[in-house]
Amino acid sequence: MEFLGKHILSVSQFDREAIEKLITVADRMKPYANRERITKALNGAILGNMFFEASTRTRTSFGCAFNRLGGYVRETVGIENSALAKGESLSDTAKVMSGYSDIIVMRHPLDGSVAEFAKSSRVPVINAGDGSNEHPSQALLDLYTMSKELSRFERPIDGMRIAMVGDLKYGRTVHSLSKLLKLFNNISFTFVSPKQLAMPVDIIEQLIELGHNVLETDNLETGLANVDIVYQTRIQEERFPTKEEANKFRGAFRINRYAYSQFCHPTTVIMHPLPRDSRADANELDADMDEHPNMAVFRQADNGVLVRMAMFALILGVDEKLSDYESPVNWTVLQ
Ligand code: CP
Repeated sequence: MEFLGKHILSVSQFDREAIEKLITVADRMKPYANRERITKALNGAILGNMFFEASTRTRTSFGCAFNRLGGYVRETVGIENSALAKGESLSDTAKVMSGYSDIIVMRHPLDGSVAEFAKSSRVPVINAGDGSNEHPSQALLDLYTMSKELSRFERPIDGMRIAMVGDLKYGRTVHSLSKLLKLFNNISFTFVSPKQLAMPVDIIEQLIELGHNVLETDNLETGLANVDIVYQTRIQEERFPTKEEANKFRGAFRINRYAYSQFCHPTTVIMHPLPRDSRADANELDADMDEHPNMAVFRQADNGVLVRMAMFALILGVDEKLSDYESPVNWTVLQ
């Protein structure tokens, strides 16, 4: 796969070589993300950061990633603050916004909407989440995190055992992650969900066809046993027909110190794309796990900046030029 000038709309575009390239370039971003050095490789470039659905991490980490490469960020947040609210089509919005920007990141509540937008864009478009369909940059940062966390225990991704837990029907992160992991060898997937929120059948069929092991269960204890990674997810309340429907499943699969100590192997790594639902009736991933050394969720969120910097650098062709535009950090770095 070639990155230069390309849209990133689905993880289906990736092969193993592209993933390895992205991980190598993401590692190269550490001195800039850690404020040890500054690069202005994207000085003068403009990111159109268009979020038509709520976001904390993805919007801000894409923006920070572009800033850390020396570029500028222009944001559109909320359909109500854009001309989409006046009936403008995605196609017209793309024709206009791609005249103003060098690259566009977009999140939208409808499946397929970012691909539709990209058809009319003159600049590369990155899908930051389209409905319950895909969230490619999240899957890439999840994979990056898995490779780093498992390397602490000298384990590769090939042969990995992963439990994905929660809302596997509406959760776009687990859809993209499963499709990305199918490129690896001999992965054991345990899908833990209520039957009504099971992983889509087409994804399961693809994994089985490629020789991966798949177990589906609605029992948390069974699901957490003998896995390297637990990938917990939130009930995607915003995708249910009503809040009452979503409430039926809230709090069904809680992970806390007690559950971890009872059901998990001591080296099992806990991941979550965040946000977690911390309300008392949900509490799917208890804060009592936060100080556990295998709780990777905040390292995972930090990795979003590295991986998104790598995506921008590769798509805009500056991945080999970072040090050409380097300078020291002038301020006192306090973290
Ligand atoms: N993981 C994720 O997509 O988080 P946000 O919704 O905050 O962007």
